[in-house]
Amino acid sequence: MANELKIKGYDYIEFYVGSAKMWAYWHAKAMAFKIAGYCGPETGVKDKTSYYLVKNKLKFVVTSAIKPSNYEIASFVERHGDGVKRWSLIVENVQEAFNLAVKNGGIPVRNPKRLEDENGYLEEAAIKLYDDAEIVFINRDNYKGIFKPGFGKPIQKISITTQDTGLQEVDHVVGNVRINEMNLWENYLNKTLNLETFLEFGAGDISTQYSALLSKVVRSKNGGGIKNPINEPYEGKKKSQIEEYIDEYLGSGIQHIAISTDNIIATIKALRENGVEFLTVPNAYYDLLKEKKLSKMIIEDIEELRKYGILCDTEGKGYLLQLFTKPISDRPTFFYEIIQRREGAEGFGQGNFQALFESIERDQVARGTFDKE
Ligand SMILES: [Fe+2]
Repeated sequence: MANELKIKGYDYIEFYVGSAKMWAYWHAKAMAFKIAGYCGPETGVKDKTSYYLVKNKLKFVVTSAIKPSNYEIASFVERHGDGVKRWSLIVENVQEAFNLAVKNGGIPVRNPKRLEDENGYLEEAAIKLYDDAEIVFINRDNYKGIFKPGFGKPIQKISITTQDTGLQEVDHVVGNVRINEMNLWENYLNKTLNLETFLEFGAGDISTQYSALLSKVVRSKNGGGIKNPINEPYEGKKKSQIEEYIDEYLGSGIQHIAISTDNIIATIKALRENGVEFLTVPNAYYDLLKEKKLSKMIIEDIEELRKYGILCDTEGKGYLLQLFTKPISDRPTFFYEIIQRREGAEGFGQGNFQALFESIERDQVARGTFDKE
């Protein structure tokens, strides 16, 4: 039976960070999230603070330890810097999904647990992913409160003026892993979540003259909408951007989250006005795109795409528009992708890899990554 875990899609994504309040402000100002919930000493939780951020279907949580005794959070941030701790999947039945995942090789992290308060109850369980991350199974059908028990309305009186970004929902979540780990995690995700390998990029498929990587994409077999590319460094003349991530993050973890929009030009315009930094795309890219436009029905004005530096991949079915932020925190690790799929495009921007990686390499040169052999 397909999709036996009865996954209905992504639910929340939680980041462990050095300063949750600052992360909440940044997401509110730069990305136009609403700070919809808060958990901390004022709501009865003594050793951490969390801010619940929402935007259309996006549910993000940013969490910081406020006491070193909260070792789980403090040690994660000390080692990895700010990063994604867990992403979650909505399932019909948490106990059944967890049991099945573990039976199929999932490494249990937290057994199913019911969390309740006066607003009802929700159920959660988690299995391991990569070094220090988790995949959470959640069902919140019987909970009417803000996010989870322990959360309340934000106590801060935060009023932020910002340009609306129109960000919609999580499109895909990407992991970076060490050499020889890609197949291991591909197998793990396919078996435990009943996913399938959808795309594979082998040696030479994704490379510039300096650096290279391997990549596989696993996704839901029927609906569910789960898409998870996994990248591994590959030998090149210089250090791969994946290797740089592993070095800086001190291990394998989540590299980026792609967020969808229905109007990427308006979204990127707003994000830029809000101060978000993006990778730069060379001018020549758009001259080439003008030629491609003749063979594909690209409805966007190429000059508009050039103006906002948006990438357009015409490979395969339909076409997709995308752009990548620079790493959003201090280490060159986690970043966001903004994506719009047109006419059933299913790819991940493989036609853009060359232009994109050359852009990343310019930043790597500035960071001195290429000096280290
Ligand atoms: Fe992506």
